[in-house]
Amino acid sequence: GKQADNGTNNAGEQFSRAGFILAAIGSSVGLGNMWKFPYITGKYGGAAFFMVFIICLIIIGLPIMLAEMAIGRGGRGSAAASFTRLSGNKTWGGLGFISVLASFLIFSYYAVVAGWTLHYAMLSFTGNLFTSTDFGARFDTFIGSYWPIFWQGIVLLLTVLVLTAGISAGIERFNKILIPGLVILLVALVVRSLTLEGAAEGVGFFLNPDFGKLTPEAVLAALGHAFFSLSLGMGIMITYGAYVNKRQSLSGAAMAVGIGDLLYAFLAGMIIFPTTFAFQLEPAQGPGLAFVVLPVAFSAMPLGAWFGGLFFILLAIAALTSAVSLLEVSVSFLLERVKWGRTKTVWITGIVCFIVGLPSALSVGGTVKGLSFGGRSIFDWVDFVTSNIMLPLGGLIVTIFAGYFWKNASEEAGLTAGWFKVWLFMLRYIAPILVVLVFLYSTGLIRF
Ligand code: PHE
Repeated sequence: GKQADNGTNNAGEQFSRAGFILAAIGSSVGLGNMWKFPYITGKYGGAAFFMVFIICLIIIGLPIMLAEMAIGRGGRGSAAASFTRLSGNKTWGGLGFISVLASFLIFSYYAVVAGWTLHYAMLSFTGNLFTSTDFGARFDTFIGSYWPIFWQGIVLLLTVLVLTAGISAGIERFNKILIPGLVILLVALVVRSLTLEGAAEGVGFFLNPDFGKLTPEAVLAALGHAFFSLSLGMGIMITYGAYVNKRQSLSGAAMAVGIGDLLYAFLAGMIIFPTTFAFQLEPAQGPGLAFVVLPVAFSAMPLGAWFGGLFFILLAIAALTSAVSLLEVSVSFLLERVKWGRTKTVWITGIVCFIVGLPSALSVGGTVKGLSFGGRSIFDWVDFVTSNIMLPLGGLIVTIFAGYFWKNASEEAGLTAGWFKVWLFMLRYIAPILVVLVFLYSTGLIRF
């Protein structure tokens, strides 16, 4: 709209109360909830791990999320400018820029994977997914072809179209339409999974607490995933926070996002384990689970083509609502520096992100040979560097800034004096240590 086109990202455009919460939930609910969370929960002790995960969400996830939202609302700018504005020191803005870069790079390959889900939704609905039973070969052929680029382009196009419409008519409206759809699909698929013969065994595996598996490694996995799952450390909640009304309770919003993310992850487990166990499949993680393992189940169950299609649409929705949040971080950053207006800025950011993502798209399935170094494809490298290095770094900068350097933190966070003390204690002493531990572990610098 006109308002958004005056070259700044705080052109008076705001989320409604519910719109902000839905957009933040849309960002945090993503592919990770479906293909990482159930797997690590099963692997590290079911309900025992789940409890640790909840504790991690509460003691580091929520405090950092609240800090990010408050920095954005207080600074009224991008994930870089907000820091500068609140501290009067450009160095902080430079540090904030790390998150802007992280979200841009994450989106460059996230769009590729989101594209795969769209392709598989089509394949499943048309029944073409089930013409052969070798789903591994089919997936390898697909990602080794040039088709993923087409679907990556579609994802970028959709994201660009949402973002050109601005905050309330774009991001907010998109999430308001898609999140209810996501809930309906989720419930339908949970009901389908739980009514499969042999489902109970899967539920048992998911939820039986096994404290023996609760190793230090498990605890760090829980911490790292809490961080990734809430979309922290990449400037998203700062960027969205800049569009939030001064009267809205940020702690309430952070709590709602935490609960929404947790609930979705739990229900995702209620789909994955009953389904894999009912068909005697090995519950895996990552693309292998969604594109290779689960299609076996869909091919064998009544109306499986439909349930498969709905499952991939569910994944696509979860990915797209994260996609818009990822790209908006860069858009809001650029709007403060260029005079192109929102529409042009969004298109240029989207096109550049598409191009930057091409090496990821073409390396992951070996479409173009030679795009691997040191045993990792470019896709894996971008994922590794962003998730394991830039993300913890971004989170650390937030905790240090809000914990030690930001004088008016209390005003913006809107907590009672007692809760403010607790929050500050977490930001100062607990969160930084835990974030550094996750960093050391996930980069392989410490081992157990
Ligand atoms: N939080 C999303 C998930 O759980 C992923 C994501 C990470 C989205 C980083 C945006 C940024 O899958």
